[in-house]
Amino acid sequence: MNVFTKIVEIKEYLSKLRANGLTIGFVPTMGALHEGHLSLLRKAKQENDICICSIFVNPLQFNNIEDLIKYPRPIEKDIDILTSVNCAILFNPSEKEIYPEPDNTIFDFGGLDKYMEGASRPGHFNGVAVIVNKLFEIINPNKAYFGEKDYQQLTIIKYLVKALNIPVKIVACPTLRESDGLAMSSRNLRLSSEERKVAPLIYSTLSEIKKMYKSNTIEDIKRFVKNSIHKCPLMKLEYFEIVNTETLVPVNVIDDSYSRIACIAVYLGNIRLIDNIKF
Ligand code: PAJ
Repeated sequence: MNVFTKIVEIKEYLSKLRANGLTIGFVPTMGALHEGHLSLLRKAKQENDICICSIFVNPLQFNNIEDLIKYPRPIEKDIDILTSVNCAILFNPSEKEIYPEPDNTIFDFGGLDKYMEGASRPGHFNGVAVIVNKLFEIINPNKAYFGEKDYQQLTIIKYLVKALNIPVKIVACPTLRESDGLAMSSRNLRLSSEERKVAPLIYSTLSEIKKMYKSNTIEDIKRFVKNSIHKCPLMKLEYFEIVNTETLVPVNVIDDSYSRIACIAVYLGNIRLIDNIKF
């Protein structure tokens, strides 16, 4: 695998590949790679000549300094994993390389950032947009792969690409889960063994919605979710919303004229976990 840390060097390398007519599939990540990330990389490999992964823990998207400091950074292990899945290129720049000057660009997301993660983590999606836009400019991929695990992020990136006419196709990839249902996440590494044991409650609670939504109101579902999560003393519900999959606006009545997704954020001890389910 070719590892690049410098923008000029990866740009030059990629321009040669592009000149030879090769297509580029790109998977941006913050590292601490798990099977969820690898599922994106596998898809990128299948659909393109060259697969590129980036690892950059982007300070701009963290609104909690402790979360940024404690974010896992097992770069040697990540390089081994990427090598074992035959990823062709890793872009692993330093913070100085990406932000030689502070980047104060402000993006507008047409209201997609109004609820859920956008409301709970002010500035988060702007930070995501700054880095993803920069990475797209550097890598100039044909296709880029994002997980449905971060559904609001995926929707906002699709919007951004359209709004800024960025010539890349965004490919949505399904959420990979552990065998007990817990959505894979780099943050799972920080759960204590006691926390890890109860963590599947998040997805099992979401799964119940599929059974109950036809004969219950939104209020009933919200009450059920709150009660179910708070039965576990280690968990604290941050938000639970049922939103339109396109507009991300919370819905008041469930009918089949639009598709819906239920999104949740839960603190398990100090660790903030998110998940979602379409129904
Ligand atoms: P990170 O959390 O490392 O995730 C990188 C990509 O992997 C994202 O598109 C995310 O949705 C996807 N992913 C994470 N867990 C997944 C799972 N269990 N199943 C499927 N896909 C999963 O998301 C980010 O990094 C950053 O915000 C980034 C886009 C890299 C910008 O900094």
